[in-house]
Amino acid sequence: MNNKVKSILFVCLGNICRSPMAETIMAKVLDDADLSSTIHIDSAGIIDYHEGEKADIRMRQHAADHGYDILHRSRPVTEDDFYNFDLIVGMDRSNMEELERKRPADAKARLAMVAQYVTPPQPVPDPYYGGDAGFEFVITLLEEACQNILKMEVQ
Ligand code: 4NP
Repeated sequence: MNNKVKSILFVCLGNICRSPMAETIMAKVLDDADLSSTIHIDSAGIIDYHEGEKADIRMRQHAADHGYDILHRSRPVTEDDFYNFDLIVGMDRSNMEELERKRPADAKARLAMVAQYVTPPQPVPDPYYGGDAGFEFVITLLEEACQNILKMEVQ
């Protein structure tokens, strides 16, 4: 059923915590599989409040503890994204509703939620107003999801 994809956009609300973390983990997974030059990845946010900002310092700190360096700067999802990416992966139900609302009728991008790549299926909770455990849980879920995205969508 699934066509293999050449480009993946990760989307969350602010594009300063979950989706830049997902992009960074996916980059590592692709690199380890020698696929970083053939698969294009990026991340974006539903809202533009944090446009141009680096990822949240707490997310970057937790990322560093796990050996990841988040370089992305926040940007909002654009209409072009729905034509330029094969797969757009949202973090939670609210992200998916917004993506479905923004998606042009003739867009090529397939929409998916991280939940379908983790067991048991569950959304990636927004860590922004929580504590350390929330940021750690984001990394745990996204590491599992990115391995499964590689197997199910890329290879
Ligand atoms: P993210 O987290 O969607 O994982 O980047 C959030 C970042 C900012 C806000 C909410 C969630 N905010 O309301 O500004």
